[in-house]
Amino acid sequence: METIKLKPRAQDYETREEVKTMRTNLLFCGSDKKVILITSCLAGEGKSTITMNLAQSLAEIKKKVLLIDVDLRKSVLLRQVEGERPRKGLTHYLSGQASIADIIYLSEEPKFHIIFAGPVPPNPAELLASKSFERLIQKCREAYDYVLLDCAPLGMVVDAAVVAGYSDASILAIESGNISYHFAQGVKQKLENTGCPILGVALNKIDRAKSGRYYRKKYEKYYQKYYESEDNFDEI
Ligand SMILES: Nc1ncnc2c1ncn2[C@@H]1O[C@H](COP(=O)(O)OP(=O)(O)O)[C@@H](O)[C@H]1O
Ligand SMILES: [Mg+2]
Repeated sequence: METIKLKPRAQDYETREEVKTMRTNLLFCGSDKKVILITSCLAGEGKSTITMNLAQSLAEIKKKVLLIDVDLRKSVLLRQVEGERPRKGLTHYLSGQASIADIIYLSEEPKFHIIFAGPVPPNPAELLASKSFERLIQKCREAYDYVLLDCAPLGMVVDAAVVAGYSDASILAIESGNISYHFAQGVKQKLENTGCPILGVALNKIDRAKSGRYYRKKYEKYYQKYYESEDNFDEI
């Protein structure tokens, strides 16, 4: 297996905290939720960003994580790689041109491994419905604590519903302010129809300037509660 170097991520404090919250929530869902798919309604809502952040965050606490780029139609994960690009990807394996060991790349974070999508195939949904893909997921399930599947948007193509058949749970990424209630409900319904439980929604690209008042209020309330309980303690 070859090692690749990922470009450094610029993350502000709030983003880091939000990713940690998502990681904690996932850990509390139990160790039987291992293979997790991430999808959205449309392209560009932030699936790949969220999946990458969550994967690295899990690896930081020593979980063995594999991220698979299952967005065979519009993969952008290669852009995260510094220097020479990986040559083999998922579609090489699914079309019989590579073995599982050939397509797993090690990152500089020892517990974090990646499978890139590979060249765009003419038949993504069929390839994902194949026995080869099922075998890959089975093998990876045994070898990793978490397998995160960065899928194509379910509001546009069916691929994520196919992948849901091999997944223990799913996360729906929604870009704040950009997706109508009905569209989001429709995609949620499609995901539910597969029988794959939805762990939650990751609301992305929140305008923090607008939601600042909400955050301040939330924390003011928290601290108020904290100090009130200190007062009570003094009185006892
Ligand atoms: N929380 C965020 N704030 C600002 N930009 C973001 C955020 N999340 C993602 N982006 C940007 O939005 C674009 C699309 O994100 P990406 O993760 O590739 O979406 P998807 O995988 O759903 O198509 C990228 O340029 C990414 O850097
Ligand atoms: Mg993507």
